[in-house]
Amino acid sequence: MNSTDTTRLPGISYTTARVFTAAQMVDLYARSHPSRATRDNEADIESMFAHATLAATAWAGELLVGAARVFTDFTSMAYLSDIDVDANFRRRGIGRGIIQTVLAELKPGAKLLLFSNEEAEEFYKRLGCEPCPRGFRLVNK
Ligand SMILES: CC(C)(COP(=O)(O)OP(=O)(O)OC[C@H]1O[C@@H](n2cnc3c(N)ncnc32)[C@H](O)[C@@H]1OP(=O)(O)O)[C@@H](O)C(=O)NCCC(=O)NCCS
Repeated sequence: MNSTDTTRLPGISYTTARVFTAAQMVDLYARSHPSRATRDNEADIESMFAHATLAATAWAGELLVGAARVFTDFTSMAYLSDIDVDANFRRRGIGRGIIQTVLAELKPGAKLLLFSNEEAEEFYKRLGCEPCPRGFRLVNK
C-alpha cells in the first residue's frame, strides 16, 4: 500500500509514501519515547530513513503520530525497526495500523522479524507475533 488510508480509525491516515522531515521524526520520537530525545539527532535520523526500504507513517492531519522503519526484499523477509506511536495516541489501533500497512507491501508468506523491548512484548503478541528463540545480534564496535 502506498497511498493514504483512513479506514482503521477515523482521522488517522497510514502511508508508506508520504514525505516527512527528520525534524518531524525527531519530534515524534520525543513525544513517543522521552528517553530517546537525548540520543536522536536529525543527521542520524536522516540516514536511518534514507537507507531503509520503507517508512510506514501514521498521521492525524499534519501531525506525525506514528512511524516504523522496515528493511525488506518484499518477498521473503522484512526487518522492522523502531515502531513508535505518540504517547497521546496510544491504544487506539495506530501501532496495529502501521504493522498492517507494512504487511500490505509484502508478498504473502514473507516473514516480519523484529526485536521487542520489554514494554512492547504484549503489543506484538496481540498482533499475532511469535517469539523467535534463536535470534542473535552483534553490535559493531
Ligand atoms: C508499542 C506501541 C508502538 C504500541 O502502539 P499502539 O498504537 O498503542 O498499539 P495499538 O493500539 O495498535 O495496540 C494493538 C494491540 O496491542 C495492545 N497493546 C498495545 N500496547 C500494549 C501494552 N503496552 N501492553 C499490553 N497490550 C498492549 C492493544 O491493547 C491492542 O490490543 P487489541 O487490539 O487486542 O485490543 C506504543 O506503545 C509505543 O510507541 N511504545 C513506545 C515505543 C516502543 O516501545 N516501541 C516498541 C519498540 S520494540
